Amino acid sequence: MDGNGRWAKQRGLKRTMGHERGAKVAEDVIQWASDLGIRYLTLYSFSTENWKRPKEEVSFLFSLMVRYLESRLNKIIRENVRVRFTGRIEELPQEVFDVCKRIEEKSKNNSKIDVILAVNYGGRREIVDAVNKIISKGIKEIDIKDISNNLYLPDVPDPELIIRTSGEIRISNFLLWQIAYSELYFTDTLWPDFTKDDLIKAIENYSNRERRFGSISSDEGSEK
Ligand code: IPE
Ligand code: MG
Repeated sequence: MDGNGRWAKQRGLKRTMGHERGAKVAEDVIQWASDLGIRYLTLYSFSTENWKRPKEEVSFLFSLMVRYLESRLNKIIRENVRVRFTGRIEELPQEVFDVCKRIEEKSKNNSKIDVILAVNYGGRREIVDAVNKIISKGIKEIDIKDISNNLYLPDVPDPELIIRTSGEIRISNFLLWQIAYSELYFTDTLWPDFTKDDLIKAIENYSNRERRFGSISSDEGSEK
């Protein structure tokens, strides 16, 4: 969800106003995704690198998250949304961590869509944490499955489609292990301007791609 700061700057507003608008768009995107039948949606909300930002911006982002999660709890339950977190949330300020845990607990039996908020998340950190978990179990030699099974949320399937907004063409430490065969979609639209049409366009683009997972086209099977 990139481009909040630039969206605000274009309008002569403070960066925090961009985040405010970005949070509203995230709420809308959850609804659109759910209506479209998407089963898992992960929103990269705060990376392990975002601590480098001014501390006022960091604390604004956390208070925005807490405000949204608390005020939307009834809606989350009503809409059958399961909210989960990926990342080292135990390193967040205590009150933020507590709210995350509470929402996770209250929504754990919901089943229309899993909304996964990546908070204090880093893909390299996640892989290292998985390896350390494996080591602590005394396992000496590992396989691909060992890493997959020891990620933060091992039951969540690898993403089929990754959307990055605001014209940046990079991954920025997002789900490094899980995106091995994900389709990537980049758009110049800034996150606060992202609409339902943009979401549908991304999904349509994805639908027209042929996913071969290292194999060849199914209609080329007989060629030698
Ligand atoms: C929001 O966009 C992403 C968050 C980390 C919350 P940015 O804050 O990165 O916006 P730009 O890149 O400055 O435009
Ligand atoms: Mg950015």
